[in-house]
Parts: sequence; C-alpha cells; structure tokens
Amino acid sequence: MAVRVVVGAQWGDEGKGKITDILAESAGAVVRYQGGSNAGHTVVVNGEAFKLHLIPSGILHEDAFSIMGDGTVIDPQGLKDEIDGLKARGLSCKHLYVSGCAHVIMPYHRLLDGLQEDARGKDSIGTTRRGIGPAYTDKTARMPLPVRMWDLLCKDTLRERIENQLAQKNTIIQQLYGHAPLDVDETLDEIWPAAEALHPYIRDTRQLLLGRVDAGDDIVLEGAQGTFLDLDCGTFPFVTSSHPIAGGACLGTGIGPTMIDDVYIVAKAYTTRVGAGPFPTEDTGEQGDLIRERGHEYGTTTGRPRRCGWPDFVVIKTSARINGATGIALTLLDVLDAFEEIPVCVAYEIGGERFDTLPSQADLLSEATPIYETLEGWSEDITGCTTYEALPAAAKAYVEAVENSTGVPVKFISVGPGRNQTIKR
Ligand code: GDP
Ligand code: IMO
Ligand code: MG
Repeated sequence: MAVRVVVGAQWGDEGKGKITDILAESAGAVVRYQGGSNAGHTVVVNGEAFKLHLIPSGILHEDAFSIMGDGTVIDPQGLKDEIDGLKARGLSCKHLYVSGCAHVIMPYHRLLDGLQEDARGKDSIGTTRRGIGPAYTDKTARMPLPVRMWDLLCKDTLRERIENQLAQKNTIIQQLYGHAPLDVDETLDEIWPAAEALHPYIRDTRQLLLGRVDAGDDIVLEGAQGTFLDLDCGTFPFVTSSHPIAGGACLGTGIGPTMIDDVYIVAKAYTTRVGAGPFPTEDTGEQGDLIRERGHEYGTTTGRPRRCGWPDFVVIKTSARINGATGIALTLLDVLDAFEEIPVCVAYEIGGERFDTLPSQADLLSEATPIYETLEGWSEDITGCTTYEALPAAAKAYVEAVENSTGVPVKFISVGPGRNQTIKR
C-alpha cells in the first residue's frame, strides 16, 4: 500500500490528469484535494479525450473510489453536468463521492468573481471567473454560515443559508458594484435541481478514505493548479485561493503527513502560465508561439491561449523543495522535439544578485533576468519511444539535467497524451 500525491510543479496544466490516471490503475481511491472547476484535467484513452474539472482523473478506473475531498469547492450544476457527460459515455460513476464538508460555489460567488475582476481593470488576476476566490473567502470568513455540501441535503437549510448570505452579499453587489441584487427564491430555484441530483454522492469522505487506507489500498491524492498558484507559496497575488502544494493534500483529505509515501511533482518540459503574474522565461515571440501550437496550449476550462516559455529549472527546483518531492513526472517532452537548441533557465539575476531558487517576494520576479544555459535539442520525433533507452541521447541528457538540478529522480517521462506514451523508470 502507498499513498501518493500528484502536484503541479509550475503554474498548472502540467499533465496532472494524465499522470493521475496512470497511477490510478492500481489504486483503491483517487482524491481531488483542493480547487474547483477552475481546473481542467485531460485524460486521453485510445485517442478519446476526457476533460475533467471537478471529478478526479481516476474516474476512468471504475473500481477505484473517486473522491472530491473536504478542501475542494463544488459548483453543483458543473458537477452534475460532468457526471451526466461521463454517464453518457458509458461510465457508471458508481464509486463517486463528494465530501459533505466541501464548500459550495453559489451563483453569487460566480457573479462576484466577475465583478471583482472587472473592477480591478488592468490589475486583474485573470481568474477563471468560476467563483473560486469568493467561495474560499466565505469559507475562511465562517459567518454568516456559507453553504457546504451537507446543506444541499435539506432545502429549508439551504434556503436559510442563502437568505443570510444574500442579506450581506446584496449590499456589496449593489452598493460596491452597482449591480442588481440577487433574489433568494431565484437563487434557490437555480441550484436546487442540481443539488438534489447530487444527494446520492454526498458522504463523510474522510471516513471513507481512511477505510481504504486501513484496507491497505494504494491511494492517489490529486492536486489541481500548481505549486506557484498556491495561496501561500505561489506568486501572490497572482495565485488561486487554495493550497495545491503537497501539504494541501493533508488539509484537503484528512490524511496526515506521515501517511504519505510519495510526492510526485508533475513538471512540464517547458513552462506555461494562464492569467496574469510574473513569468521570467516567457517567450512572447515566434518560439513561444511554436511551443503553444505544438503543445496545444489553450486552456481546458476557459479556452484562453496559455502564455508559453522556456524550461525554468529554478521553478522546478524550488517546487521540488516546497513539495518534498520524491519523484518527478516530466511531461510534454515531445513538444521540444522541434528545437535544435533548448535554453534552460538555471538561475535569475535580480538587482545584481543571483537567485538559484525562487524568492518568496514574488514581485521581485517581474525584474528577474533569467540566466540561461543552452542544452542540445534532439530534433527527432520521440512520441513513439516506450523505453528510456529508446530516447535520443540529447533527450536523455535533458532528463538528467532536470535530475541534477533538483536532486530528485525523474520517474515518469511523458512523450504524448496517450496512456501508452509514458516511460516509467
Ligand atoms: P493538468 O491540468 O495538469 O491535468 O493538464 P491539462 O490537461 O490542462 O493540460 C495538459 C495537456 O497536455 C492535455 O491536453 C494532455 O492531454 C496533454 N498531454 C499530457 N501529457 C502530454 C505529453 O507528454 N505530450 C503531449 N504532446 N501532450 C500531453
Ligand atoms: P489545472 O488544475 C492553470 C489560474 C487562473 C488565474 C489564477 C486564479 O488545470 O492545472 P482562479 O479562478 O483559481 O481564482 O484563478 O489561477 N488557474 C489555473 N491556471 N491551470 C489551472 O488548473 C488553473 N486554475 C486556476 O488562470 O491566473
Ligand atoms: Mg489543466
């Protein structure tokens, strides 16, 4: 039995869904531990793509429990649509469970996310406008009582929560943003059909999960977003409102730190970011465009073109430390097939000082000049390689450079979206 955490090493979209799906093959339970439908995780099986936002990427392995943990935030309609979509494709979702303690993204959260972003103007974060920040804000505020999944079980309780929330929220919606107030009955009617449809899935998932642990099952804890979108460890304020880092897996599931055996950071072979915020190795020219086209770097959730840039070993090294990584899954390596030379950022120069790891004061990053070393490219198609030995020498040298920089072994190398395009070491 092993408990394994899958964490994004950079700013999200590293291929966590694909790696989770692979680890799920032998697992008794796969748990999403934070975030909401801001995430978009793609799993490709036999050329068929499954785009998951809330449901853990283990769902394609029907016998494993698929759990949305305490630390997630759930949009009831979004979750219902996702379940219906999977059922329409022949999946039963028979072991799908949602924590009753997960907080609910309400219509006023989505509205406020949009109003706040618009009001920020040029200083906007570039959120997904899915209501994530406002929902986590209510969780930490505690009062008036926010809506949790448990509250969806009783219509009267839900109405009471909505009444108390709107008594406060409407003041903000109207007086701060000049928007029309939300109506209690309309809000209730909007979410009740989805809320009711989710009743069979709402559980004490902490107990369920500990049961799987006691039974000796392998467990996968799946993060959303990435290390540098973490509320505390990320490039604040250009972060999400939860804890994607490995420590967040404990908070969001009820699994204690000493129960975790492995932490796999999923690192994209180059770097991308969606939304605003510092990105030292961003390439806004032709090379960045080439990476975007080769990697199909358009958001799964919002369709936005992702910002693209060169490999940043400072980011991966810092991420390995923050997460206590025991292994790296290096993904999308095939995207680099097209480059004769690969500039790799090994340190930053900021104000005349050299930084080998990311400074915690993220605003310094906007002044960072990347110090690059150039690695040789391999200029050949690696998408059919199924063993490490089959990789070209320069690709192996790239993998080993990642290991030397981080001191962490690369245990998975992904050379294409398919399950079989994965080299295990
Ligand atoms: P996540 O949010 O971390 O799960 O990542 P996304 O699913 O948002 O983005 C990763 C994208 O790359 C998805 O479309 C995957 O199907 C795809 N992908 C994953 N691994 C590889 C790989 O090794 N090579 C290529 N070319 N695509 C990959
Ligand atoms: P996955 O799990 C990439 C980014 C948004 C924005 C910031 C805050 O697919 O890797 P939010 O809506 O969370 O308040 O937005 O975080 N962001 C992501 N970027 N991948 C994601 O998820 C993301 N989820 C949020 O673009 O910059
Ligand atoms: Mg994604």
